[in-house]
Amino acid sequence: MASVTFNSVTKRYGEFVALRDLDIEIGDREFLVFVGPSGCGKTTTLRLLAGLDSVTTGDIYIGDRRVNELASRDRDIAMVFQSYALYPHMTVYDNMAFSLELQGLGKGDIQQRVQRAAQQIGLEDLLHRKPKDLSGGQRQRVAVCRAIVRNPAVFLMDEPLSNLDAQLRVQARTEISRLHRELQSTFIYVTHDQVEAMTMGTRIAILNQGVLQQIDTPQAIYSTPKNKFVAGFIGSPAMNFFDGALVEMADQLWFKSDALTVALPTPAPAQYQRYRGQRVICGIRPEDIHDAGYVPPGIVTIPLKGTVSLLEPMGNEVIVYLTLGDGQTCAARVDRRSTLALGDTVELALNITALHLFDPHTEAAVI
Ligand SMILES: Nc1ncnc2c1ncn2[C@@H]1O[C@H](COP(=O)(O)OP(=O)(O)OP(=O)(O)O)[C@@H](O)[C@H]1O
Ligand SMILES: [Mg+2]
Repeated sequence: MASVTFNSVTKRYGEFVALRDLDIEIGDREFLVFVGPSGCGKTTTLRLLAGLDSVTTGDIYIGDRRVNELASRDRDIAMVFQSYALYPHMTVYDNMAFSLELQGLGKGDIQQRVQRAAQQIGLEDLLHRKPKDLSGGQRQRVAVCRAIVRNPAVFLMDEPLSNLDAQLRVQARTEISRLHRELQSTFIYVTHDQVEAMTMGTRIAILNQGVLQQIDTPQAIYSTPKNKFVAGFIGSPAMNFFDGALVEMADQLWFKSDALTVALPTPAPAQYQRYRGQRVICGIRPEDIHDAGYVPPGIVTIPLKGTVSLLEPMGNEVIVYLTLGDGQTCAARVDRRSTLALGDTVELALNITALHLFDPHTEAAVI
């Protein structure tokens, strides 16, 4: 069991900065998920922590021990790679036993630990097989199991589910969450799948271009994104953005763009006042735009007029893409009973209390 600290960690490859000034404290037994687009520095972060690569500047601590110069095998961590990196010529048993043999454990000890881990993961019947004779899901479990036998203080997992089909992913997701509860270790998990991030993480750290954007609980990230990048990255379909300005009319602040004019709640927060007469970006999540016939009770809405350009009936809801007057497309998640049809000119109902405002220059949230 251990906490993990990154202290102003920067990683350069030549001129290229893969990770910039990363400051993070990960608590003992936390399940921290790193999420972000391809190339944002997720794997780099794990490799630095695992000791597979060295930092350019900054310090990494596991517990209160600075590990910058510590060899990978002495860091008390185990990593599950996206490729699984199983030894093809070894059986499942030997794949698991191998690292324990390297640690110098006796045969009896090794057998006990492999059996116990195999039991936890449900692999007892496959121990004699070779990786090529396993399904993708089984290989994934072997990779996780191989990390578990080592009983590390910190588990690192780099997109361990990305090779699985949708149904297996859901299963494996809950299995890894269960393991986290059972093993009571620190988990650091990398994914670019936002559903995994939202459902598994006790906290989520969002990276973009090597820079930490926000770290918080899944709920806080979703409801109060710190900037436009985070707002647009988490949530599917993504948050809709409107370029416009804050204007004052009839003693009230309004957001006004070509397609949307909406009164802001009164009294307007002091932070909004600074943007009076200034350009600003307004964000609204698709679930905050409703079919006017199915607006949930207690919500104040204004009409959003446009033409239905695409419909995606999901069963539990319908995703509607609306082309607005200025040509912009806007996504809405509406009630499954909705009878909107392609080409209809309609007025959807936009929840005026669910707006997010962003500075157009810094893209920081105005809150
Ligand atoms: N050895 C290297 N030499 C040069 N550049 C590298 C090296 N390793 C990684 N990079 C670059 O650093 C950046 C971050 O890479 P990293 O592998 O951490 O991304 P990632 O977030 O894991 O992306 P993905 O989701 O595609 O796995 C990328 O632009 C990558 O090309
Ligand atoms: Mg990666």
